Amino acid sequence: MKTIMHPGLLIATVICLISSCTKAQNSSSGTENNLTGKNILIVYLSRTNNTKAIAELIQKEVGGKMVSLELQQPYPENYQAIVDQVAKENADGFLPPLKTKIDSIENFDVIFLGFPTWGMQLPPPMKSFLRQYDLKGKTLVPFNTNAGFGIGSTFQTVKELAPSSNILEGFSMQGGKERDGVYLVIQGEKEKQAKAEIIKWLKTINIKN
Ligand SMILES: Cc1cc2nc3c(=O)[nH]c(=O)nc-3n(C[C@H](O)[C@H](O)[C@H](O)COP(=O)(O)O)c2cc1C
Repeated sequence: MKTIMHPGLLIATVICLISSCTKAQNSSSGTENNLTGKNILIVYLSRTNNTKAIAELIQKEVGGKMVSLELQQPYPENYQAIVDQVAKENADGFLPPLKTKIDSIENFDVIFLGFPTWGMQLPPPMKSFLRQYDLKGKTLVPFNTNAGFGIGSTFQTVKELAPSSNILEGFSMQGGKERDGVYLVIQGEKEKQAKAEIIKWLKTINIKN
């Protein structure tokens, strides 16, 4: 005896197959940021080494090459002097020339960008970096330390200065408070806490399984 599928049942089966196929596609796209086979660069700016400590923790998890951003004319040692200079540079849109040169940036697929919050903005040297290098099509991963006042406009400025990059959700945590004489704090217990938070974040953005 011939069994003929009811047309309604046939349509339902087709819809069901299409929807499970879409679901499968969605779940596989969840791993699209995974680092397998990708070249990683970690570029950071750090004055009192808190952001550097985060950069090192990230490198332990994902590997890659670390580069510290240095200026041709270093900033003053004195805290108030650097605060004043940065405020002026931000107001004038001045981009301090970098001493750091990155060879063959085109070879890197994923670039972690680390910086402190300065005057609630992205520090001028990081603005110089984003202006100087062509980061089109690359995946950028921002990370930040600050004195407790947050990221300010830093992550937004990264987006504005790298409009053709794929920018992932950033990481931020409280670092030092140079104004009050508090310098490197990401060490000991605080470093362990930072490591746990970094691993959680890297999983959220599918950089780590
Ligand atoms: C010039 C300057 C400006 C700063 N402005 C801010 C700010 O606006 N908000 C904030 O939370 N912290 C501010 N800080 C504090 C740093 O963001 C904080 O200490 C950070 O952890 C320093 O990172 P580093 O140790 O990698 O240099 C400022 C520090 C400096 C030197």
